[in-house]
Amino acid sequence: MSDFAIGESDFLLDGEPFRILSGALHYFRVHPDLWADRIDKARRMGLNTIETYVPWNAHSPRRGVFDTTGMLDLGRFLDEVAAAGLHAIVRPGPYICAEWDNGGLPAWLFQEPGVGVRRYEKQFLAAVEEYLGQVLAVVRPRQVDQGGPVLLVQVENEYGAFGNDQEYLEAVAAMIRETGITVPLVTVDQPVPEMLTAGGLDGVLRTGSFGSRSVERLRTLREHQPTGPLMCMEFWDGWFDHWGGPHHTTGVEEAARELDALLAQGASVNIYMFHGGTNFGLTSGADDKGVFRPTVTSYDYDAPLDEAGRPTAKYEAFREVLSRYSSTPVDASPPRAEAPAPRFTVALGEPVRLLADPACWGAETCHEVMPSLDDLQTRLALFRTEITVDGPALLSVGEVRDRVLVFLDGAPVGVLERERRDRALMLPHGRGRLELVVEDQGRVNYGPRIGEPKGLLGDLRLDAEPLTGWTAWAVDLDAVPNLWTSAPPASPAGVGPTAWRTSFPVGEPVDHFLRTDAWGKGIAWVNGFCLGRYWHRGPQHTLYVPGPVLRPGDNELVVLELETMVDPTATFAAGLSLGPVED
Ligand code: GLA
Repeated sequence: MSDFAIGESDFLLDGEPFRILSGALHYFRVHPDLWADRIDKARRMGLNTIETYVPWNAHSPRRGVFDTTGMLDLGRFLDEVAAAGLHAIVRPGPYICAEWDNGGLPAWLFQEPGVGVRRYEKQFLAAVEEYLGQVLAVVRPRQVDQGGPVLLVQVENEYGAFGNDQEYLEAVAAMIRETGITVPLVTVDQPVPEMLTAGGLDGVLRTGSFGSRSVERLRTLREHQPTGPLMCMEFWDGWFDHWGGPHHTTGVEEAARELDALLAQGASVNIYMFHGGTNFGLTSGADDKGVFRPTVTSYDYDAPLDEAGRPTAKYEAFREVLSRYSSTPVDASPPRAEAPAPRFTVALGEPVRLLADPACWGAETCHEVMPSLDDLQTRLALFRTEITVDGPALLSVGEVRDRVLVFLDGAPVGVLERERRDRALMLPHGRGRLELVVEDQGRVNYGPRIGEPKGLLGDLRLDAEPLTGWTAWAVDLDAVPNLWTSAPPASPAGVGPTAWRTSFPVGEPVDHFLRTDAWGKGIAWVNGFCLGRYWHRGPQHTLYVPGPVLRPGDNELVVLELETMVDPTATFAAGLSLGPVED
């Protein structure tokens, strides 16, 4: 058992000054059987602490559920951190940002009329209290003063960039204390005076988030935190990518120099990210600062370990810097070498088409007015109605969230995209079967748009008349890999969202890299594990298949292609392809 406290100018571990050399590693972005490998590599880089957020919406996909199995086993993760001899920092939100769907806030929360978002509002606070009780029950026995690894718990996340409701922030801090958290609490804010004021709390250590100009940023932080240790809670050593944009990188020497400058000031650090991992499933968020930009599946972040956990040049450069500041010698023996990834191609077959047989894909319901995707509790839905207007007709909608494929009598006639602010499409004729496939591309995770609904919002019209009388199918994406038990395979030629499958042989279950550049836009699964979204726009053109998802012998790949494939084959490559870098 140890004592961890905030001193006049340092963190104090059992009364002695202690500098936190931490790296961010999100357990929910790494296969659990690879946690130990990543943690071991963190220790070898010279880190003494691992930091993680907790994504509320992943643990609680439905009201009343709190899942801590598999990739969500926070207790196991913290135990593995402890077993490696490292400390831990836990940032449970409730809001986490993190390029994660809705910044971690569950979508079901916003179905409540009048619910507040990150402010002192009864319904929001009641849900937060229940969540914090559940997650901190896992953390409480793992605090350093109870013999565990946890040194610090963070309250909210960059709250000063969002609001200034001190009563709310105080309520969250009080709830954390009431669950039995006894280690010091911290807040984090960008080093901007207004944000540090609005996002901080008396009696809670303020920390900063930044990736450059450390001396200046720490000076600003010091003005708002007159005593106590200085800490950069998010030292940004890279950045994330959006679909259609470049792959972001940060120069190795520049990043190492910034880290050195920060540590030379005597500050503690949490390197964001040490290892980013992957937004498996449909977990990636989006930005909307005027233009909607969904975030990609890879969370490589140009971090010291790449998306697949391989050490990069940044790893070596950071190790050199950290070795000069670490209080104990850094283990210089090389980490476990990775087996090469096999390269091969297999044909995809047995297509199953959504438009042909929607009843096999999800629950069918009827609605006078088109429901939102939230009403249907789905991320993808097919809507069908009959239209009877003479001549060409204008389809228009209030707002597209986020993308709609439009079909008329089974033929594709256009796409409406939120990113382009599309609101209308001229249909070649106004008579026949109108089908809309509506897709949620990830919820905004930063700024005032968190919590917003998905689907086709506002007035939906054909020419001037409201479009009503819809049959809807809420696609059960988790069940796509099981489609072949109910839906008969179709002919290879056809239109609209199509699921394909194949089996492929594996010798040793090592990491694989699935190339996606011959495909359009969709989602892929291996052995039922959802690898995430792909899109021909890139920048990424591989999906990472973690070794532990595979098994010796036959393995199953399922691909849901929403648009068209140039070639219905699957190619496995030797490594990651994260896309072009902008100069
Ligand atoms: C902020 C947030 C993080 C993350 C980074 C950018 O600092 O606190 O959750 O979104 O920005 O990667």
